[in-house]
Amino acid sequence: MKQLLIAAALALLAIGPATAGKPAPKSEGIEAEGYKWNAQEGEKIEALKLTGNLENGEEAYEVCGACHLPSGAGRPDGTFPQLAGQHTTVLIKQIADIRAGLRDNPTMYPFAATLIDPQELADVAAYIESLCIPNQHGQYDDADKMIQIALGRDLYQKQCQECHGANGEGDKDKFYPVIAGQHYKYLLRQMTEIRDGKRRNANPDMVKVIKPYTDQQLVAISAYQASLKMPGQMCQD
Ligand code: HEC
Ligand code: HEC
Repeated sequence: MKQLLIAAALALLAIGPATAGKPAPKSEGIEAEGYKWNAQEGEKIEALKLTGNLENGEEAYEVCGACHLPSGAGRPDGTFPQLAGQHTTVLIKQIADIRAGLRDNPTMYPFAATLIDPQELADVAAYIESLCIPNQHGQYDDADKMIQIALGRDLYQKQCQECHGANGEGDKDKFYPVIAGQHYKYLLRQMTEIRDGKRRNANPDMVKVIKPYTDQQLVAISAYQASLKMPGQMCQD
């Protein structure tokens, strides 16, 4: 079964998601009247209560590694995010949201749907969190890199650091993601989707902050975030 799934993931990568199984459900999320961000319900709350088993998690992660790589590093071109070292709370929330149609991810949905129960969700999250954050990831590399990073740092310190931390460490208890070690192009895509209301599971307080940003500011803030490193959590290579 596992081998078949991995083969299916690789095939999907080669030919695109057209052959995927049933389509994801779609929830309104942030667009809905009275939307409550991160409502504590469903399989998410079940998984959050459980202790993840690393060995089972490693096995469950095999299929994920076809896209996110066995190290969790994803791809520098930003198609697949870096996952290693992410907080279990964030991983469980994001996967549960993808499964519930609150966050669109047609490429991954058929594989997210294969996690059998809250225990497996807790296991795979515990395994991913235990991985060190790879040092090599996609950066903003144009000639004005230093200027963009300086502009981005200014914005980040004023408006983002409070939640995501000085080194991009996030906050496990509050479901704030780790940003350190993430690819520039993935960050830019998320910044754009969150500003434009397309990531429907986004935190409304963050949306308020990012709503007025220009495209140019999104580039700067993404360039800065991609430069962050979390002491003690990076791989020793
Ligand atoms: C066919 C490729 C593919 C497979 C297989 C896959 N993913 Fe993904 N995953 C993606 C893509 C693409 C995204 C980013 C989507 C976006 O841009 O929002 C993603 C995003 C994520 C995110 C959100 C990351 C973040 O920083 O918010 C998590 C968590 C995740 N995947 C976990 C998993 C797990 C666990 C598995 C295995 C059960 C898995 N993925 C299998 C393609 C895949
Ligand atoms: C009130 C706290 C808060 C503030 C302020 C905030 N964020 Fe966030 N951010 C969050 C939360 C919570 C999420 C996860 C949202 C979700 O999907 O539920 C998130 C998600 C993200 C993501 C996506 C991470 C991923 O792996 O997909 C990025 C990147 C990010 N924030 C960057 C920023 C930047 C840059 C700023 C400042 C402009 C900012 N945030 C301001 C709380 C905050």
